[in-house]
Amino acid sequence: MSQLIVDNVTKEFPTRGDPLVVLQGVSLQLESGRNLAVIGPSGSGKTTLLNLLGVLERPTSGTITVDGQNPAELSDKAVAAFRSRKIGFIFQDHHLLPQCSVLENVLVPTIAGGRTKPEDVNRARHLLERVGLNDRLEHRPAELSGGQKQRTAIARALIRRPALVLADEPTGNLDQTTAAQVADLLLELQTEENTMLIVVTHSTSLAERMQQRRRLDNGRLQEVA
Ligand SMILES: Nc1ncnc2c1ncn2[C@@H]1O[C@H](COP(=O)(O)OP(=O)(O)O)[C@@H](O)[C@H]1O
Ligand SMILES: [Mg+2]
Repeated sequence: MSQLIVDNVTKEFPTRGDPLVVLQGVSLQLESGRNLAVIGPSGSGKTTLLNLLGVLERPTSGTITVDGQNPAELSDKAVAAFRSRKIGFIFQDHHLLPQCSVLENVLVPTIAGGRTKPEDVNRARHLLERVGLNDRLEHRPAELSGGQKQRTAIARALIRRPALVLADEPTGNLDQTTAAQVADLLLELQTEENTMLIVVTHSTSLAERMQQRRRLDNGRLQEVA
């Protein structure tokens, strides 16, 4: 059982004048199998929050722990290992490597742990089958539709069995039908893999399918009725 605890997190960016306060006193908790949508207008700090959760940035104050570990206390090298072991990322614009095949893209996170092992390849094939891409393993990203690219990105995010999956507008570039299919897969796989999932989205249809919803408003996470 994994657990995420965000306790009273603040994030400020320095400016020439007063610092820009993007998050103030954000707290939340999540555990395996649970998911959360974070909604809020453009500029409200959604990506900043995901960057903190994914340890791409550090909070100005407050703490974030995943399975009892606070990555802000780790060295840069240990942070990289923590991130690749514990966190899976899905971006709005897939971030697949254009020169690599679908199978290779899904295996990219496993390279951080040394050489790719046969069981990693088996798991990548399993996940790609699960997202309906078993006949596209050798395709390049440019040869895929938008929905297929995001399905590849979902498989890549899950390859190392992360405790926490973070998705930033995962369906933002997709038409409605494709977005619904990608959302179906993301939620099915989250259940199968028993991960924690946080999705940042403008899409009310996606947000409504999540177990919990919060709105970022003036730097605070508000309950959504
Ligand atoms: N690295 C940064 N340095 C300075 N300001 C930033 C940085 N990242 C984000 N911001 C500012 O923080 C605010 C929130 O940005 P962001 O988290 O990207 O919002 P959202 O994802 O909700 O659109 C914006 O005003 C943005 O300009
Ligand atoms: Mg954003």
